[in-house]
Amino acid sequence: VDVVVFGASGYSGLELLRWLARHPVVRVVAASSDALKGAPVRGRLPEWPDDLAFSAHDAALASARTGQIALLATPAKTSLDLAPALLDKGLRVIDLSGAFRLVDAALYPEWYGFPHSHPGLLSLAHYGLVEISAPNRSTRLVANPGCYATAAVLAALPLLASDLVGAGAPIVVDGKSGVTGAGRTLDESLLFAEVAESLRPYRVARHQHTPEIERALGRLAKRDVMVSFTAHLVPMRRGLIASVYAPAKPGVSQADVARALKHAHAAHAFVRVLEDRPPETGLVAYTNFAEVSATLDERARVIAAFCALDNLVKGAAGQAIENLNAMLGLDPATGLTAR
Ligand SMILES: NC(=O)c1ccc[n+]([C@@H]2O[C@H](COP(=O)([O-])OP(=O)(O)OC[C@H]3O[C@@H](n4cnc5c(N)ncnc54)[C@H](OP(=O)(O)O)[C@@H]3O)[C@@H](O)[C@H]2O)c1
Repeated sequence: VDVVVFGASGYSGLELLRWLARHPVVRVVAASSDALKGAPVRGRLPEWPDDLAFSAHDAALASARTGQIALLATPAKTSLDLAPALLDKGLRVIDLSGAFRLVDAALYPEWYGFPHSHPGLLSLAHYGLVEISAPNRSTRLVANPGCYATAAVLAALPLLASDLVGAGAPIVVDGKSGVTGAGRTLDESLLFAEVAESLRPYRVARHQHTPEIERALGRLAKRDVMVSFTAHLVPMRRGLIASVYAPAKPGVSQADVARALKHAHAAHAFVRVLEDRPPETGLVAYTNFAEVSATLDERARVIAAFCALDNLVKGAAGQAIENLNAMLGLDPATGLTAR
């Protein structure tokens, strides 16, 4: 299957190439970057197997053909224009940005800072969190979930699916991510000297993953869910942890929480439920695995649930390949188990 990667020079684009290089069914025919156009992919990714060079974004779009699959590792505003153009050309699209993750176009100005120019595509887009619902052979557009949203939902899924969470108070999500989560864009606040030996919250009460998390959790709970989400920047390269705090329903016990966790993720190839230790980012780095645990704080009647993952793999490229596998009818783990 021929695949085109847009935004291939970025952190998640290069991570896509790293995994796709050893995917048994996929051939990457174009990797777009204006900044690196003409340069060999191998110059950025030593394990790349052939002489493919980065091509300009316009050239990659012009050469895209019906039957191919396009993976967009581009900013949301770019994906918003690219996806319709590629769908018109007969490609199927997996978009790693937030451009198609929300159903309600009216939310885009507030959370993403731009009006949605293709609202009709929001109902076509399949929200590709495979643990909730995988795409299939007829899916044309996948909105790959956000990294924080993936971790928050994998942590909260068992609690909501088993109806352990009381209504009436918001679910608090505290997310912490390594610096690659912010992309490769030049930004003074992300310089080594600004980030090292320091920890800070950012986009407090206005992070764009908030409505995405609310939508996914609401789907699981079968009711509206209010989320208070705060992201933190951690001085490490990659890795993300979401700590989710939810009010326990009266009567819920630790045994109920443990049972819910085991049951909810039993069939999920890349989610490991931990009973003997809490999740740790360092142990899942460079893999597509997510680690999950949950504990009832009996005194406060709050369930604390955690999920650690690699923001660039399970939180981006690896999850996109899980979606790709589902769109091709392949085993979900195809090309994803080697480190
Ligand atoms: N980083 C993460 O942990 C993460 C996790 C999940 C989802 N995502 C999402 O994945 C997308 C990419 O994120 P990233 O962190 O990998 O970003 P990044 O490192 O900043 O890379 C951005 C890529 O997009 C390309 N690009 C920029 N403007 C473009 C345009 N106008 N047309 C076409 N391509 C353009 C850049 O190409 P040039 O080489 O030409 O500059 C570069 O390859 C974003 O939507 C982000 O929200 C990121």
